[in-house]
Amino acid sequence: MLEGRVFNFSSGPSMLPEPVLLKAQQELLAYPGAGASVMEISHRSKIFDEIIENAKNYIKKLLNMSDNYKIIFTPGGATMQFSMLAINFLNGASADYINTGSWASKAMSEGKKHGTVREIWSGKSENYVRMPDSSELKISDEAKYVHFTSNETIQGIEFFNEPDIGDKLLFCDASSDFLSRPIDITKYALLYAGAQKNVGPSGIAVVIIREDLLSLVPEKLPSLLDYRLMVENNSLYNTPSTWSIYIVGLVVKWLYEDIGGLYKIEELNKKKSELLYKVIDENNGFYIGHAQKNSRSRMNITFRLPDETLEKEFISKASAEGLTELKGHRSVGGCRASIYNAMPYEGCEALAQFMKEFVRTHG
Ligand SMILES: Cc1ncc(COP(=O)(O)O)c(C=O)c1O
Repeated sequence: MLEGRVFNFSSGPSMLPEPVLLKAQQELLAYPGAGASVMEISHRSKIFDEIIENAKNYIKKLLNMSDNYKIIFTPGGATMQFSMLAINFLNGASADYINTGSWASKAMSEGKKHGTVREIWSGKSENYVRMPDSSELKISDEAKYVHFTSNETIQGIEFFNEPDIGDKLLFCDASSDFLSRPIDITKYALLYAGAQKNVGPSGIAVVIIREDLLSLVPEKLPSLLDYRLMVENNSLYNTPSTWSIYIVGLVVKWLYEDIGGLYKIEELNKKKSELLYKVIDENNGFYIGHAQKNSRSRMNITFRLPDETLEKEFISKASAEGLTELKGHRSVGGCRASIYNAMPYEGCEALAQFMKEFVRTHG
């Protein structure tokens, strides 16, 4: 860790890889060949064109994606995608949604403004402790698509296999586990992720869309909400967040070249999360994990302590030791350690050590 920095367990915006921050710092005043900052050059310049192509190419390589998938960078984060995908593909018809937690619920609420949303499974009555098995899903014939959330950031539960939905179009909010492990992209028709967890700064979403879907986009949509127009204009219909796209480019390059791709990062993410779940399991009763074991997220580790006073003390003592942002989401309380790709193994080791010590002195 660089001097002055902490292990930041924020759920997003969250840690970025230090080599990325250093590179951005080095290039901040004068991007090579531009004599100006990336923030100061035209989004229509040749240099920016290279920056955006570079970002797309690394994502393509990481996901082993063929040319019939298009990548765009959209404003408005993942929340705008909740609306945008419904405006483009629901449009008064019916779609199936899998309600696995807070973010899936939000996607459904936005979807309902544009058509019929069928909740084909809900984990609400179980307090969102697990992801469903495909055998529990009743896909409806008329569904235009099936929407799921691959990782519920607030509850800390994750799908490790895509739901099996037959030949329906599969749409996925992958905001909090995008590029954290390999996936078979050919199973997806549309996948989107707010950038600020695993791939960059806030403010944009990375959207991957299968080309044949573009012919289904209705005419005369507002320009920035029109997937076809966004693809045709290579995300440059208007002035995008050029700085965010640049940083995404650095992150995906780091992931591919320094880390060695998605199999490698998956190995690391497994090791990191196992370290923390082990402490929870070995001190079961003091640390109470939220997720059922087979749905435990590798990105967001959610747990409670015996009471709220202890939780407050845990969070503030950890912060004093440079382990910050461990408070759970305000809607569910408790504690949450978000350990996306950029969280070093040492950060998880330090937290595991702190947790063991805390239980020794407070258990
Ligand atoms: C799974 C998931 N979906 C959607 C969102 C909303 O993202 P944004 O704030 O980029 O709109 C988040 C943000 O935390 C998230 O974790």
